[in-house]
Amino acid sequence: MIKPISGFSRLNKKEKIDWLAKTYLIDRPEDVAILRQYWNEDSRLQQLHDEFTENTLSNFYLPFGLAPNFLINEDLLAIPMAIEESSVIAAASKAAKFWRTRGGFRAEVIDTKKIGQVHFNFFGAIEKLEHFFEVTKPKLLQAVKSITHNMEKRGGGVLNINLNDKTGEIANYYQLHCEFETKDSMGANFINSCLEKFAEVFQYEAQQFADFSPEEKDIEIIMSILSNYVPECLVRAEVSCRVEDLNENKDVKGEDFAKKFIQAVNIAEVEPFRAVTHNKGIMNGIDAVVLATGNDFRAVEAGIHAYASRNGKYSSLTHASIENGIFKFWIEVPLALGTVGGLTSLHPLVKLALDILQQPTAKELMKIVAVAGLAQNFAAINSLTTTGIQQGHMKMHLMNILNQHKATMQEKEILTKYFTKHTVTHSRAVEELRKLRNS
Ligand code: MEV
Repeated sequence: MIKPISGFSRLNKKEKIDWLAKTYLIDRPEDVAILRQYWNEDSRLQQLHDEFTENTLSNFYLPFGLAPNFLINEDLLAIPMAIEESSVIAAASKAAKFWRTRGGFRAEVIDTKKIGQVHFNFFGAIEKLEHFFEVTKPKLLQAVKSITHNMEKRGGGVLNINLNDKTGEIANYYQLHCEFETKDSMGANFINSCLEKFAEVFQYEAQQFADFSPEEKDIEIIMSILSNYVPECLVRAEVSCRVEDLNENKDVKGEDFAKKFIQAVNIAEVEPFRAVTHNKGIMNGIDAVVLATGNDFRAVEAGIHAYASRNGKYSSLTHASIENGIFKFWIEVPLALGTVGGLTSLHPLVKLALDILQQPTAKELMKIVAVAGLAQNFAAINSLTTTGIQQGHMKMHLMNILNQHKATMQEKEILTKYFTKHTVTHSRAVEELRKLRNS
């Protein structure tokens, strides 16, 4: 019977691993050895990783790859991507190459507004609360001056505070709905610090407010937190070309390709079962760049999927059209990203990724990430509506199958060559490996 442990976080790393070994990995020294195998030889680098989070035992690697040839608003960029799924980087690179000779990607940031809310209960008349809010708003803004000072120097700060009446949904429930500009930082800490100060001052001022009854003075703060739903922190990326220039594949006319492609996008616009997979493919590109640049992919995922449902039904993030013989394909996504603060100056690979991207501002990174999502979606729909996804995917997945069966370098070389001319399936790959070993 396993006993709960108290004080686990206070053990040092060796003691934590020893506890794990004798509690859950009994007679499994090879598992314990793996933890150590993934430690970095450079103890300073390892300590840095240990200290990113809590109870760290080891590191969890993801491949860090590069998709070159992205022409974005006239700049030719190579995009770093951190992702474990085979064929994603190949697909991004293929789409980049395709569009480089057709005018490249164009991207623009529509807005960069971020949101945070103080959720509270008020027990009294709305008119009195509204009056109190108007009187108190300047005091709230004044109270965060020490927090906003540096951000204001960079051109950011608190943009506005509104009072929202939510009593139609929950009795006595109101919000301070606050808007922020956080420039090149993602801004989570900045926003949350401002919100907590707003809450404290709002509650204090209510106690002092002469017009309030004793009940009204007792504003109850429920919580203060930023929102990862940022529909006004929005970026758009687009590609376009003449329909006849789409015929990369000589067997398919540009017009036929475009029609089928657009119908595939239309299906994702109206059919949630398809939209989720369609958007998942987009997130393959988006998450990989978000991760490589040290941004919070959970926040990005949550915000984007909420945006995909903004009209009451989950739908495609991309759209496509033909007008006057021009094929156009575009994406609009909310992205709250940072290129300063957080991991950006701490994680050596994140610093490297940002250097590869020529040290973008947060706005530039928004454009790059949106382009990566659009490129990924273009590549996926291109495959899906022509050859099917498995042909390319299985080719890229071959290495995983061979590794699962512990193929040697020589076996990999022979079989990779063999499968340039044959269709890859899991069973065929295993069978060819078996034959090779028996021969
Ligand atoms: C696989 O990771 C992503 C795709 O399923 C996306 C799509 O279907 O559009 C290929």
